[in-house]
Amino acid sequence: MTTFSRSPTPAITVFPTHKLSPINRKIYSGFLEHLGRCIYTGIYDPTNPNKSLIDERGFRRDVLAALKPLDIPVMRYPGGNFCATYHWKDGIGPRASRPARCDLAWGNVETNHFGTDEFMEWVTELGAEPFLCLNFGTGDLDEALHWLEYCNGTEDTYWANQRRRNGHPEPYNVKYWGLGNEVWGPWQINQMKKEDYAERAIQWAKAFKLQDPNVELILCGKEGATGWDLHVIKECVLPQAKDGLGQEALNLVDMVSIHGYTASEEHYENATAPLGNERAIEVCTGLIDLAFAENGLLVDQKKPKICFDEWNVWSWERAPGSKGGEETYTLSDALAVATWLNVLVRQSANVEMACIAQSVNVISPLMTSVDGITRQTTWWPYELFCRFMRGHLVAVNLASEVYEGPTKPAWIRAVRETPFMDVSATLDEDGCLTMCVVNYHLEEEMETILTGAQGIVSVYSITGEHHRVTNMEGKQEVEVKEAEWDSSKGVFVFPKCSVTFLRWKTA
Ligand code: AHR
Repeated sequence: MTTFSRSPTPAITVFPTHKLSPINRKIYSGFLEHLGRCIYTGIYDPTNPNKSLIDERGFRRDVLAALKPLDIPVMRYPGGNFCATYHWKDGIGPRASRPARCDLAWGNVETNHFGTDEFMEWVTELGAEPFLCLNFGTGDLDEALHWLEYCNGTEDTYWANQRRRNGHPEPYNVKYWGLGNEVWGPWQINQMKKEDYAERAIQWAKAFKLQDPNVELILCGKEGATGWDLHVIKECVLPQAKDGLGQEALNLVDMVSIHGYTASEEHYENATAPLGNERAIEVCTGLIDLAFAENGLLVDQKKPKICFDEWNVWSWERAPGSKGGEETYTLSDALAVATWLNVLVRQSANVEMACIAQSVNVISPLMTSVDGITRQTTWWPYELFCRFMRGHLVAVNLASEVYEGPTKPAWIRAVRETPFMDVSATLDEDGCLTMCVVNYHLEEEMETILTGAQGIVSVYSITGEHHRVTNMEGKQEVEVKEAEWDSSKGVFVFPKCSVTFLRWKTA
């Protein structure tokens, strides 16, 4: 929670002993889709002539080396829109006999050279848990249950044995399963009406929980504050019927997925846009509360939270998915990504999981070429959040002047103020307090009265010459600069157009 008051004199007061919600590490999860260069040449690149970059399995060593220190908890796969025509059985067994198929989502040929077993191997190497999204387009329930059996089956059954025959004796124990992706979208193969989706999702959820009660199912919501969200949450946030199942009441769905992409060519619109998604999280949480109360869920049952399983800065005009969705991110976009992550941290009571879309090459902070990797501007706030912003959210009060210009979406200021600064603060298990402060202002540094910091503070600052500067073509214009600040000075100057992390050990 950040409280806010208008003031011509910027001031931030942090309350290190005022611990609020725990932050679920899963908000730093990732996403890999069979889209453009995300899988092929992004993480799996066996034909790269630069042999030192590739391991014996064809995985990019440099990509794994960059991602591992982020300690990414969960990785979503294989899409995205790609799911809607993906038949997982095409991607197992000897590569030579895997069929190539048309991918209707992105207009590519899918070779199926990378499939379930390769993903499990890669994700295990990364140290993350898998999250598989089901085909609600051309797939059926039988096929989906076979995938569950292939991944998690322990009995002497056909698909569990097929996994064993393919060299994987132990089950993968995939816990997270998505009940379709953006099923509401007109671009979707087999787009559905909300009524039809809700009926189908319940039946699939029931069957999944019968086959494996340990799975957690993610309902396909929309953007959080729409009629689709209202309907599917009301119909599907239900206890599993006890009748005939001989089990305790279970939630049929464990999380509700929503998606959000923000972008604008105008800096203030661009950098503040994620604040609209903060409102969407609040509204969606209200819908879940309502369903929970109305649908007879037990008070001691775990209340489903939000799985924000696609979020990022993305302009379709700049980087169409049909052309591979490769964005070149600016400093302004780095401020937007920091704002996105401030939102997810501030909303940690309501968000259980969130996946940056995507983890490599496609609308990603990390790009590959045949020779190596580039960390885009947006990498740096993302890395520092993953490293430092953990433990609990703590209370902060911000006082600042307010940005009064246009916003995107236009309605943001109908529901909240848009200060020139944005902040969240966390207290980790080692007693380290970290605060992330974004200064959106393009002309003014913010000389800020800072109360609540202790001793010598480590400073990590991300800024650049101007807000359009990028890191592509091998130039690292935007990096993290480290310094120290003596908090007894009481005033900290946040550079114009910057993201700053302040970190200190609390007594
Ligand atoms: O992340 C790129 C695409 O954006 C995903 O495939 C889809 O779910 C969303 O529209």
